[in-house]
Amino acid sequence: MNKIIVKGGNALNGTIDISGMKNAALPIVFATIVTKSVCVIENIPLVDDVLKSIEIIREMGGVAEFIDETTVKIDTTGVECCTSPDDIVRKIRGSMYLLGAELAREGRTEMIYPGGCNFGKRPIDLHFKAFTALGADIREDEDEYIRGEVKGRLHGANIYFDIASVGATINAIIAAVTADGVTVIENAAREPHVVDVANFFNTCGANVTGAGTGTVKIHGVPELHGCTYAIIPDMIEAGTYMAAVAATGGCLTVGNIIPKHLEIISQKLIDMGVEIEEGDDYVTVRSNGKLRGINIKTLPYPGFPTDMQPQFAPLLSLAEGRGEIYESIFDNRFKYLEELKKLGTTVDIDGRTAVFSGGNKLVGAPARAVDLRGGAALVIAGLVAEGETEILDADCIYRGYFNLVPTLRELGADITEDRFATHIYGD
Ligand code: EPZ
Repeated sequence: MNKIIVKGGNALNGTIDISGMKNAALPIVFATIVTKSVCVIENIPLVDDVLKSIEIIREMGGVAEFIDETTVKIDTTGVECCTSPDDIVRKIRGSMYLLGAELAREGRTEMIYPGGCNFGKRPIDLHFKAFTALGADIREDEDEYIRGEVKGRLHGANIYFDIASVGATINAIIAAVTADGVTVIENAAREPHVVDVANFFNTCGANVTGAGTGTVKIHGVPELHGCTYAIIPDMIEAGTYMAAVAATGGCLTVGNIIPKHLEIISQKLIDMGVEIEEGDDYVTVRSNGKLRGINIKTLPYPGFPTDMQPQFAPLLSLAEGRGEIYESIFDNRFKYLEELKKLGTTVDIDGRTAVFSGGNKLVGAPARAVDLRGGAALVIAGLVAEGETEILDADCIYRGYFNLVPTLRELGADITEDRFATHIYGD
């Protein structure tokens, strides 16, 4: 089991550069399957989930080689649909994008139900709704496999999503780019990574407009070509480091970002008493570690991202005064709070609402990373807690953060990791 050991009390100071966005890289890696060509993807993040997606492409007959540390050349000419490896597919939520890619490439798909952080079942009914509208017959069989096929070609359709689902919006785009005719997606997710997928496809010769708004239109094209494309920076990785320095105190410049993607995160930190200076491609965060309690409600973009609510929990625990998190996206995303309580957080949880009394004095203790962002929350708490915090099951954290421990150490944290070379992938 991999673990991270952190001794609290050090401020964070310095400059870091943010990696490519995990949740943009995952769909784009699988989207290369539709091109049946060679794509060079730049600014690829070396986080475990993305490495697994590349492994899946290789196991399906694709060729993927790293040109440098953050550039991968992917040739999907030889990819065989319906041959994805169950053991890796069931470990990452990103595998869901294989469905749209295989249906677009060959009109058939078969894969084990995708995995992902455990906030409950993680339904994909909206994905099925989109594929059915586009002309696929798709179902989940008793053996946990998803199977789908298309008679003839996928055709354009009007798709309305009851929930602005990120995954379903992206999967619908992936399936529709080479369909016969025009597809319109209403109540589409507006996240920057949805825009990134659309931009990738347009660089490959597709015709996707409106990404980033609630209505996305896709004019199907007969085929795509390869391209070179750079992934956008990861706003959640950036937000996580910003939350860390807000908690510890110090001065941190977070570079290689798109400040607009971080607007709501910056605003919430300012509301808590943190100083933020914004440049063209960086923000500088200054904190004395003294924070005010605030209320947070997670919403689809451009609202406060659900993937940032765990990282704000230690801040609200430390802040003076009451604070509250309302989680409107997932119905069960507070499991990590049971672990934070082991370090001294006092919080009342009632369904989708968590109320923090604030003013907690955190003391280091052993705790477990129950999911990716919950693990990041524990690291932030450990950076401030008195004494030593041992974070078990750190694999969850490595799924979405590359070089987190060395980066924090360089910024002044007293943090080490006990990491085996071969990862035991936890769910
Ligand atoms: C993506 O998950 C991200 N994962 C998640 O990030 C992120 O939390 C989430 O979007 C919301 O921003 C990846 O991109 C790999 P959704 P996704 O479909 O697509 C419900 C992280 O930490 N829903 O937008 O699965 C669903 O249950 C991870 O990086 C349906 O009901 O999220 C949820 O309540 C964690 N039916 C809501 O919609 C569906 O078919 C939003 O989910 C699909 C979703």
